[in-house]
Amino acid sequence: MSPTLHNGLAITVRPIRPDDKQRLARGHELMSPETQRLRYLMPKPRLTAAELRYLTEVDDRDHVALVAVADELPDATLGVGRFIRRRDRPDTAEFAIVIADEFQGLGLGSEIAEQLADAAVERGIRHFSATVLHENTAVRAVLARISRRLEYARWSDGSGELLYELKAA
Ligand SMILES: CC(C)(COP(=O)(O)OP(=O)(O)OC[C@H]1O[C@@H](n2cnc3c(N)ncnc32)[C@H](O)[C@@H]1OP(=O)(O)O)[C@@H](O)C(=O)NCCC(=O)NCCS
Repeated sequence: MSPTLHNGLAITVRPIRPDDKQRLARGHELMSPETQRLRYLMPKPRLTAAELRYLTEVDDRDHVALVAVADELPDATLGVGRFIRRRDRPDTAEFAIVIADEFQGLGLGSEIAEQLADAAVERGIRHFSATVLHENTAVRAVLARISRRLEYARWSDGSGELLYELKAA
């Protein structure tokens, strides 16, 4: 699918592939330390080979990941979102997303999250859980968009475990 961002850039959102490793690593290196910290809840200057394998070699059933790419910028991902089904609650998946700094606030996070929510519901997932830093109002806005309600939020030491019921579920 080729949505258009609020700045007019046409992008493609598609499932991640094993050959995205270099593109994902490049996209990660281009992110600010703050964006990396908001995504991983700790400093994360680069992704290891094992992490790149885990993040790109997904089964598309219990682990689904979507990347945003643009023809103008073929060597890096502009954003990536994913969900991973939880073993302790198979109707729930852990949600995570990151958008490259210069593309934040343009609707891309919402676009990827909406497509992920549809893919999740198709796979029998009814809830997304997420671990977020307290100051991260942007990701809570994205999650609120795709959810019917926030079921709980457990905060401690500046981060929280949030559980949302998906809208389409
Ligand atoms: C959180 C993130 C994924 C949101 O994606 P995005 O493309 O920037 O967001 P969008 O442009 O789709 O906007 C989504 C909503 O967030 C709000 N928003 C965007 N940037 C914001 C900011 N800096 N502060 C507060 N709200 C913000 C928008 O107003 C919008 O709200 P609405 O739906 O009520 O209109 C992105 O900012 C990001 O990658 N942040 C760093 C990594 C991160 O926090 N990951 C989440 C860990 S799970």
